[in-house]
Amino acid sequence: MTILGIETSCDETAAALVENGHTLISQSVASSLEQHKITGGIVPEVAARAQIEYITPVLHATLENIKLSAVTKKALPEKTHLPVIANIDAIAVTVGPGLIGSLLVGVETAKSLAYAWNKPLIPINHMLGHIYGAWLTYGEDMDRIWPKLALLVSGGHTELILLKSHTDMQKIGQTLDDAAGEAFDKVAKLLGLEYPGGPSLSKLAEIGDPLAISFPLPMNQKSDINFSFSGLKTAVLHYVRQHPSANKADIAASFQHTVITSLVNKTKHAAQQYGAKEIILGGGVAANKLLRQQLSHSLLPIPVRIPALEFTTDNGAVIAAAAHYHNHPVQPFDIQVSPNLPLGRPV
Ligand code: KG4
Ligand code: ZN
Repeated sequence: MTILGIETSCDETAAALVENGHTLISQSVASSLEQHKITGGIVPEVAARAQIEYITPVLHATLENIKLSAVTKKALPEKTHLPVIANIDAIAVTVGPGLIGSLLVGVETAKSLAYAWNKPLIPINHMLGHIYGAWLTYGEDMDRIWPKLALLVSGGHTELILLKSHTDMQKIGQTLDDAAGEAFDKVAKLLGLEYPGGPSLSKLAEIGDPLAISFPLPMNQKSDINFSFSGLKTAVLHYVRQHPSANKADIAASFQHTVITSLVNKTKHAAQQYGAKEIILGGGVAANKLLRQQLSHSLLPIPVRIPALEFTTDNGAVIAAAAHYHNHPVQPFDIQVSPNLPLGRPV
């Protein structure tokens, strides 16, 4: 089964063709990131306008398996022709959570294509998509071991999901305030680093001492598997104010060390409590090198499935992969965006 996945929930415009839930045939991603660097954060109106500009070139590049120019977002000269449209079995699209203006662009596009091509239309939860980066990376082998525990860490969410099967999933922990990616973005901003904060802060942290400053470890009670990052962000703010000439790399490294220790400790505790036999990492923060290393190392002997980098930040492939296992089509004219959609609610 070949599914065309479309993802436009935030500042990435992405599409991909995926076969059988794990084999990537082609994909294309454009981002309005450069525009958000100017404002130091995402302006929803700007992100939505960029979605409108990029969606057609991204679809064109995906369907023809050609590269997209980073500068003009136009598809570059053709390489290979892909399966004809007749061979696409369904269209999947992110319906939430995300920014309403951005979501609408993908949903309206998918709706029009499903109607015009007479294909089933599958609505997908963005966070569910983040789980399936592991299937694209490890293939069918992912279907062997259950229950699994997914640590989903993105700009808007930090969640622990227990999966007993593809369809039996339960949220067992989440952030009570800021998401991990949001904390990276906010602390990076107060250190004067460029948006998005995750990549810029973790780069600076490479030359800092992670043990230079001892920030309080959030929600450190062993029995609690929820997260909190807002107090840590405030602690960094106070530290920066009280030590204006402190080494920024040390602050970045100490902050990153604290966030990752919290993520890893909670995941380890939840895995023990719920008897998870495999761990999945997903979401934009899953691109963080230290998190990838520490999680794999600390959870031993439980295997940790780390997604390939291209499947961490937002992309259409994970949406198409999720749709393979959550194939519940709706009538094109019935599909709706759901900006606050929680994981687990039917869409
Ligand atoms: O999943 P994603 O692309 O978008 C959302 O669904 O939110 O995640 C974006 C988040 C941003 O907060 C970004 O700063 C963070 O992922 N991020 C990172 C890294 N790369 C991206 N955080 C820490 N370290 C990284 N290397
Ligand atoms: Zn995401």
